[in-house]
Amino acid sequence: MVESTVDPKAPARTKRDLVSIEDLSNSEIEGLFDAADKFSNDLKAWSQLCPGFILGSLFHEPSTRTRLSFESSMLRLGGGVISVADAKSSSAVKGETLADTIRIMGGSYADIIVLRHGKDGAARHAANYSPIPVINAGDGAHEHPTQTLCDLYSLRKAKGTLTGQDVVLCGDLKHSRTVHSLAFALARFKANIVCVPHPGLEMPSYVTRRLRDEFRCEPHRATLDAFRKLGSELDAVYFTPESPHQLSWVPLQGPVDLKKVDALYLTRPQTERFASGTEKEKTGYFRVDREFLTSEPLRNAMIMHPLPRTQELAPELDADPRSLYFQQAALGVPIRMAVVASLLGKLPWKGKPQSEKSGPRTAHGDGIRCENSNCISLAEKDYAHPRFRVTAGEELRARCEYCDHESLVTAFGFAQSRKFRRYEASSKSLVAGEDLVLFDNEKDAQAQGYQLLA
Ligand code: NCD
Repeated sequence: MVESTVDPKAPARTKRDLVSIEDLSNSEIEGLFDAADKFSNDLKAWSQLCPGFILGSLFHEPSTRTRLSFESSMLRLGGGVISVADAKSSSAVKGETLADTIRIMGGSYADIIVLRHGKDGAARHAANYSPIPVINAGDGAHEHPTQTLCDLYSLRKAKGTLTGQDVVLCGDLKHSRTVHSLAFALARFKANIVCVPHPGLEMPSYVTRRLRDEFRCEPHRATLDAFRKLGSELDAVYFTPESPHQLSWVPLQGPVDLKKVDALYLTRPQTERFASGTEKEKTGYFRVDREFLTSEPLRNAMIMHPLPRTQELAPELDADPRSLYFQQAALGVPIRMAVVASLLGKLPWKGKPQSEKSGPRTAHGDGIRCENSNCISLAEKDYAHPRFRVTAGEELRARCEYCDHESLVTAFGFAQSRKFRRYEASSKSLVAGEDLVLFDNEKDAQAQGYQLLA
């Protein structure tokens, strides 16, 4: 699991946070499931596990399930809860930064923070400033790791395993943070992923690239129209790999005929995150009803949804034994009890932690800014210093350490010498050092006072 420091400028002090599903190793996730199994046997039997601890829930966006299940979890563990359920009732409306709020809450008010925020990367930013563990309860369109734990736990209970499951992710894949965290986890547990996006709301490229490059998972893709045919049983429906990749572990490099779906994971259109203009269009959004589920490939498909639902999921399915969504929500309590108790050091972690990603990083104020206009590093410029993880290969790629959005850069330099170079694949070993700085282009480097190295 990733360790964070309290303040980027303060002396290092370690703790554990849950910002991304990537902060947990597979064995740790299994351990959380084991603990959740125990808690579920009698939810009332655990009030001696965390007495005296306080959970601070800070919700800058609406929530029913996530906030209440976290609060219920802490109360069931014998602890207490303080809560900001609406940012409008907090000093955020007076202009207080997240960095300040978090340091206040983490001072003496609480022992663990659960944060939901509208900005991508807000949870990482908060974790950097917080002296106590921070749990990401959804940061913009970025990630929602504890929802993924509920989703995986429910699916594994229903199907007995995650390995080899064919999971269709359908709807707004662009803005659904639950889908992003889930896709990474499914890939790590060796499930197969099929993306069926609503047109214009495709999975972001920073997610699919990571699936390929880091997890060797090639998501397949179908259009909504092709997917709808699955219900007609007239013809085989073909799903093509998003982009055939030589390193892919998925043996299918051409179209596949999907004979069975193990789980159909739906998301609502996340209209609150739609850009004005093109994305406003949500007519023709998918709707799953009883009739659709009569087709052979969907006979044993579990219907999953993080909720809340809008029109995409017909209420007539609520009593269908394949419907898992109320179970996903209910299991949120034992799962979050396990997460909270573990982060407070009251439950041992199972197995090895996730290994830290290697590779150079930048942490200098000079150079590029994140390209994602909703990134917290742009909203709290004076506090969230730009940080990037660098991949130097054929191209030089920078991934924002807050929101994970990627950009291609063409030059790199060094803050101490204030010199820079044009990037070429042959110079990749030079991309290193504590004072590494990246630039979009030469002009930007020169504008920032850097000199070109021959
Ligand atoms: C999700 C969220 O907030 O991202 N809800 C949840 O936490 N269960 C999904 C959504 O709002 O669509």
